[in-house]
This record gives sequence, C-alpha cells and structure tokens, in this order.
Amino acid sequence: MHIAMISSEAAPFMKTGGMGEVVFGLAKELAKLHEVSIIMPLYKGMQYIKEDDILKKKPFREFFVNIAWRREACEVYKVNLEGVNYYFIRSDRYFMRDHGIYSYHDDIERFAFFTYASLDLLASFKNNKAKIVHLHDWHAGLLPFLAKEEENYNNNFSKTKFVLTIHNPAYQGLFDVRALEEIYELDRVYFDDGRLEFKGMVSTLKAAICYSDIVTTVSKTYRDELLSPEHGMGFQELLKEKKDYFIGIANGIDTNYYDPEKDIYAKHYSIENYSKGKLSNKKIVLEELGLSDESKPLIGFVSRFTWQKGLGLIFASLNDLVNRGANIVIMGSGEKELELYASNYMNNFPNNIKVIIGYDERLAHLIYAGSDFTLVPSLFEPCGTSQLIALRYGSIPIVRATGGLIDSIVAYDGINHDKANGFNFINFDASSFLQSLHQALDIYYDNKWLFKRLIRNGMKTNNSWKKYAKLYLRAYNKAIGK
Ligand code: GLC
Repeated sequence: MHIAMISSEAAPFMKTGGMGEVVFGLAKELAKLHEVSIIMPLYKGMQYIKEDDILKKKPFREFFVNIAWRREACEVYKVNLEGVNYYFIRSDRYFMRDHGIYSYHDDIERFAFFTYASLDLLASFKNNKAKIVHLHDWHAGLLPFLAKEEENYNNNFSKTKFVLTIHNPAYQGLFDVRALEEIYELDRVYFDDGRLEFKGMVSTLKAAICYSDIVTTVSKTYRDELLSPEHGMGFQELLKEKKDYFIGIANGIDTNYYDPEKDIYAKHYSIENYSKGKLSNKKIVLEELGLSDESKPLIGFVSRFTWQKGLGLIFASLNDLVNRGANIVIMGSGEKELELYASNYMNNFPNNIKVIIGYDERLAHLIYAGSDFTLVPSLFEPCGTSQLIALRYGSIPIVRATGGLIDSIVAYDGINHDKANGFNFINFDASSFLQSLHQALDIYYDNKWLFKRLIRNGMKTNNSWKKYAKLYLRAYNKAIGK
C-alpha cells in the first residue's frame, strides 16, 4: 500500500511541536511494511539537512500551480530518509521566510498553494498509486474536497481514500469567503450551500472532516471530548455523523531516539541504575543553568508557550514550589506575553527558577533525564508528547486530567502503587494544581520507596509506535473497505 502523508511539518526536517514528530514517527514505523511518503513545504531554516543542500539535488518535478489568478512556479525535491520518501514543495515566495514557518498575514494563501501543489504532485504519481492520502490538521484541508468535487482532479483520485488526523482543532483554517474565490479560485456556491461554511467563514478543517473517509484524533479520550459541545469547538455534530469512521488513536514516541540507555545528549542509565544515572544528569542541568543542590526536587516543563499548556497555573504555583525547596526549569517559546511573564518570574526567584526562551534539543533531553517531575497542566490536550517522553526517562508526570493525558498517565490514588506512573488534578485552577504538586512533593520527601516505584512504573510503560501504527493500518483498511 502506498500511503502519502500531507503535513505542514515533519521531523527531523522541521518540527515546531508534537505534530511534526508524530508524522515522522508514524511514517517511519509504517515504512517497515509499506511505501510511505511525506509531502511538506521546503522552508528556510530546515533542520537536519539544510535547504541549500536539498536544493543541490535535481528537482524531482517542476510544474506551475494556479493560485490567486496567477501561475506560480513549483519545484519538488525528493529525499529518502529511514525508508520514508520526503517530497519537499518549493516556492521561495511562500516558504523561504525569516520568522518561522507560521503566523504570516498570508498563511491562507501559502497553504492553499501547498494544497494545490500536493494535489498536482499526487496526481503525477504513476497509476495514482497513493491509496491512502493522510492529512494532518488544517493546512491542506481542502485537498480531499478538491479531489472529490473538482472535475480537473476527480479522475485521478477515484481509487484514493482520505484520512484526516486532528492534532489541534483550535486551529481551524478559517478565512473569508472572498478568499475562496480569489485565492483558491473556487465558486462561492460551495460556501453558500453550506458545504464549506463554518461559523460564517470557510474552514479548511471542516472541509477535511467532511470530505475525508476516516477522521482520527490522537487519543481515545480526546475523541470522546470532541463529540461534546463543551470541547467540540463547533465540530461535534459533524464528527458525530462520522460515527465509527471517527477514531481515537494515541501517539507513540520514537523509543530509539528517546532512550535513556543510548541517548545522544544525556548520561546513560537503565531501569536498573536510574538513580545514579538521573543524578548525574541532574547535576549537569543544575550546573549549566546556575542552580544548586541536587537533593532538591527538580521540576521540568518543556513546551510551546501558549495558554493551552497551562503556563498560568505554573506561574501561580511558583511561590509555593520554591517554598517547598524545589528547583524549576521552564523551556520553550511562543506567545510573547507568556515569554515575558516567565522571564519576570525567573528574575524574582533567581536561585530556584530558570527559564530558557527558545528550544534546545540537547537541554530538553537533559531536563527529562535529570528532572524528578515533569509538568503538563494543559487546559486541553489531544494527546501530549511531553508526558510520554518524561515516562521513558523516569521523570514523573504531573498532568491535568484531560484528553490524552488521561489515557497515558495512571494517576496515583493512594493505593495503586503497582500501576501508577504519575499524578493528576481535575479542575483547571491553581488550587487543584497545587494539591497535586504537594502530593508529589510529599512523596518525594517522605516516601522514597513509593517515589521509586512510580519512576519504575513509568519507565516500563510502552508507548512505542509499533503499537499504534497497527491501529492506523486498521483505520486505512477500513477506509479502503468503505
Ligand atoms: C498537538 C496537540 C498535542 C498532540 C500533538 C501531536 O500539538 O496539542 O496534544 O500531542 O498535536 O499529535
């Protein structure tokens, strides 16, 4: 089977969050048995192989894309990595930009270009061989719609099935109907008759939900949450109509890359000798960041900075944490306001709190390897990656009981020491969060036996892609059998 993933980002070439890792992790696992491609833009600032080096190759394809009443040149470059074929869509006008890969005034046009270019590339494959086209989030959301509704394309895709994975439905690809005509060059009848209309706008995510054969999201519990008016973000009725064709499949992590026994950045340790191993990593983190005292609990938070991630709760509890003798390391970047707040808190507690604005892969690994606890107090969390990495490195997750965090963390409840691998709290408020923090710190200080037990339970948890890739294959086959 040929599976083509369409994504705005994919590790190791470009990742800004969990989605980029998921696309690569899943693709790599599937590629052991199937032909797998990833189609993504060629950005400025590519990681792993620089764009200049990719551009030294001969283009795999060259064509023009009709967009916004212009003909835009497009080149495609192909790179094979770990069995996965990456196809990079090149348009310097749209993707060679200086300030990251998202949040430009013309994002709608940039990703409309990406959508059409991906479609043309897929159509150019011999025998239209992609059986499954697997989309991720809103960026190329109109692709299945175009493939099914537009005459130019539908001959090419009669045998193709479309699968959408929703990673974060807060991003809906919304735009004014005028852009449907002016950028996508489509008739506004699709909006007027309701097919593409969502909350008075066009939504590429809605289009993807409606026109995909199967929709998945990244955990079972988040699937159920999306069906409720409270958490469905307006998509609940559409998703309900999908019935058995809307499925929750959790994310795995790359257990080779995130492996305390052979990590490329951290001191190695296993479940047998983690105590010593984690301590040496803790020392490195403390020393590098100018903190002190490895007998203190070290608490880590590595994440994008958005309100979704519960940074407000963390800020509200810093005082208490410092009073209880903890060191806290916060790393990430995102919303400027949050970056500013975080830096101010660091200045208030210079001996106990370190904030690193930005993302440093090496330091991230060291924080997971050296910390005792990892915070994931999200408002909502479709799956979450941080808690999965933390488990693997024996850093006990303290999470809010929501979405994928419910499914991946067995919270300690006073008696389940044989299974528990973390702590959780239910209400999104500082006092509930603090309660779980105190529970965790009490155990750190007063019950070493239990503390170690939770670490070991966590390190034993299996979240490898092997487990979840099988479920995707089942979903693909279900789409094919539809
Ligand atoms: C989004 C979600 C996160 C999920 C990730 C990968 O970033 O917010 O919960 O883990 O996508 O699926």
